[in-house]
Amino acid sequence: MAEVKGANPSFMLLEPHKVAFEDRPVPEIGPHDVLVKVKYTGICGSDVHYWTHGAIGDYVVKAPMVLGHESAGIVEAVGPEVRTLRPGARVAMEPGIPCRRCVRCLEGRYNLCARMQFAATPPVHGTLARYYALPEDFCYELPDGMSLEEGALVEPTAVAVHVCKQAGVKPGDRVVVFGAGPVGLLCCAVARAFGALVIVSVDINEERLGVAHRYAATHTFHSQPGEWPEDAAERLVDECKLGEGANVVIEASGAETCVQMGIHVARRGGSFCQAGMGKSDIMFPIMAMASKELIVKGSFRYNSGDYSLAVDLISTGRITVRELMTGKIKFQDAEQAFKDVKAGRGIKTLIEGPPEGE
Ligand SMILES: NC(=O)c1ccc[n+]([C@@H]2O[C@H](COP(=O)([O-])OP(=O)(O)OC[C@H]3O[C@@H](n4cnc5c(N)ncnc54)[C@H](O)[C@@H]3O)[C@@H](O)[C@H]2O)c1
Ligand SMILES: [Zn+2]
Ligand SMILES: [Zn+2]
Repeated sequence: MAEVKGANPSFMLLEPHKVAFEDRPVPEIGPHDVLVKVKYTGICGSDVHYWTHGAIGDYVVKAPMVLGHESAGIVEAVGPEVRTLRPGARVAMEPGIPCRRCVRCLEGRYNLCARMQFAATPPVHGTLARYYALPEDFCYELPDGMSLEEGALVEPTAVAVHVCKQAGVKPGDRVVVFGAGPVGLLCCAVARAFGALVIVSVDINEERLGVAHRYAATHTFHSQPGEWPEDAAERLVDECKLGEGANVVIEASGAETCVQMGIHVARRGGSFCQAGMGKSDIMFPIMAMASKELIVKGSFRYNSGDYSLAVDLISTGRITVRELMTGKIKFQDAEQAFKDVKAGRGIKTLIEGPPEGE
């Protein structure tokens, strides 16, 4: 087993499939920053993609980088200007820090900031270390009764909150969600919390559809490989009794066929939101989209208010995330979490913070 030691042991990607534990300097904090002792980190497809390919699109790992971005921890130290947090506070950590000065930031869409510094997106180091520094206002204190494990699930929940806001989910809606991975499942849960009446979860994986059914979906639909998207859409609308079609379609699989099927499943005047990130170019049923006057939107990470709403939804029990935590792994065994996610084992694997005492 790998040795984990030093003041700030960190789990680093050196090159594809090559990782190491390194002791890195404890980050310095500015006047408005806090130093957090990281306790739990969830792993998702993007972490795994860097681990296997060393790049996502234009983001290429050119120097060793600490992985991880879905974390919660305990405040260790605070800068002199910090007003709302003290050492000992338990916080969910929002991992992307925008410049706060560009036009997109100032108009309130900081997730679109071109100068965003996002954890574990090269060249920015991630959170799989003992310590991580971030600004006070990107830490969200967990109310009593909300665990640090739940705190680590705030990140994908915030993704789902942003998707449901972009898609415009409202009371009474009939929503179809493609993909029953962590993001799709959380979109089902958030859509239900937003008042959706019918929530159809679509996947090719029967096991995940079982999770969706027990978790937050009112209906599930098993997508058949090879079925013509328009026919599959008709079958879905029929089987799930959607009448004119879905008011809102959320694509959270990244699969081309789901995009196509999603456009056909939407009712006239409905909305379609793309959250999945698969192939960069696809065949798109643009005529159906235009003639139904669909509102088509993208969704990228999270914006102002999404993290805090995610904390509120979880802490008040409007949504639950415990069902999605299917594995907990020691820091020393961190690479195993990447193997689990790659193999599609479970839903969300959490990595514990480094052991104390070195
Ligand atoms: N927009 C954002 O900010 C954002 C943030 C996080 C993740 N993502 C993206 O969202 C997507 C989902 O993330 P995740 O962590 O849940 O991933 P995941 O891989 O765990 O889930 C994807 C699911 O889609 C299913 N699927 C694949 N092909 C399918 C098909 N043809 N028909 C039906 N279902 C199919 C898979 O079986 C799987 O259950 C990914 O593409 C990811 O890159 C986007
Ligand atoms: Zn993630
Ligand atoms: Zn900016």
